[in-house]
Amino acid sequence: MNSHIALLFSHLVIFLIFAAISAYDGGNETDYQALLKFKSMITNKGLSSWNASFHFCDWSGVSCGKQNKRVTALVLESQGLEGSLSPYVGNLSFLHVFSLRNNNIQGMIPHEIGRLSRLRFLYLGYNKISGVIPANLSHCSNLKDLRLNNNNLVGSIPKGIGLLLKLTFMVVQY
Ligand SMILES: *[C@@H]1O[C@H](CO)[C@@H](O)[C@H](O)[C@H]1NC(C)=O
Ligand SMILES: *[C@@H]1O[C@H](CO)[C@@H](O)[C@H](O)[C@H]1NC(C)=O
Ligand SMILES: *[C@@H]1O[C@H](CO)[C@@H](O)[C@H](O)[C@H]1NC(C)=O
Ligand SMILES: *[C@@H]1O[C@H](CO)[C@@H](O)[C@H](O)[C@H]1NC(C)=O
Repeated sequence: MNSHIALLFSHLVIFLIFAAISAYDGGNETDYQALLKFKSMITNKGLSSWNASFHFCDWSGVSCGKQNKRVTALVLESQGLEGSLSPYVGNLSFLHVFSLRNNNIQGMIPHEIGRLSRLRFLYLGYNKISGVIPANLSHCSNLKDLRLNNNNLVGSIPKGIGLLLKLTFMVVQY
């Protein structure tokens, strides 16, 4: 092989290795830790069935991708959950659907939610969530449906949310 091409090739290999390392975000262990942190901020027994006897993909309300075992949906509606939202939910990077509709969740929406670039459905309506809608929600570029009604939110709807191209449905009521 021409030494010039060989050098280019070795650079390409090094580049690909670095790209792979930087794209790796901890994988399933990150999701596992995020779910444990999420559970730790639920103050009642609503998630007591989430225990180490089962893989987290088999926990109630959790759905995972078949191949990669990453959390794709977290749906816990009308479960009487009390407590607040952990910023660690922002680490569930494969999350498409997140619904905690009709529980007793308080506190603010963590701005880390803006890291969920695959999120399509966010349903947090019918809780006791307070504070403002985080501006970082406008980083969820795949968001299609946003429902935050019947909470204790204040402030205005962040401008960036109006720029979300895929957003087709939104309910926010103060
Ligand atoms: C994460 O994946 C690795 C490798 O596939 C596996 O050994 C480990 O048990 C998994 N951990 C969890 C919490 O699923
Ligand atoms: C784990 O949760 C299951 C229900 O999902 C329950 O039957 C089992 O007793 C629990 N195990 C422990 C050790 O708490
Ligand atoms: C997950 O999120 C928390 C809080 O947002 C952060 O401190 C932590 O470093 C993140 N990464 C992993 C791999 O858990
Ligand atoms: C929120 O967005 C700001 C910029 O708008 C950024 O600096 C910050 O890191 C973001 N935080 C998260 C957790 O995504």
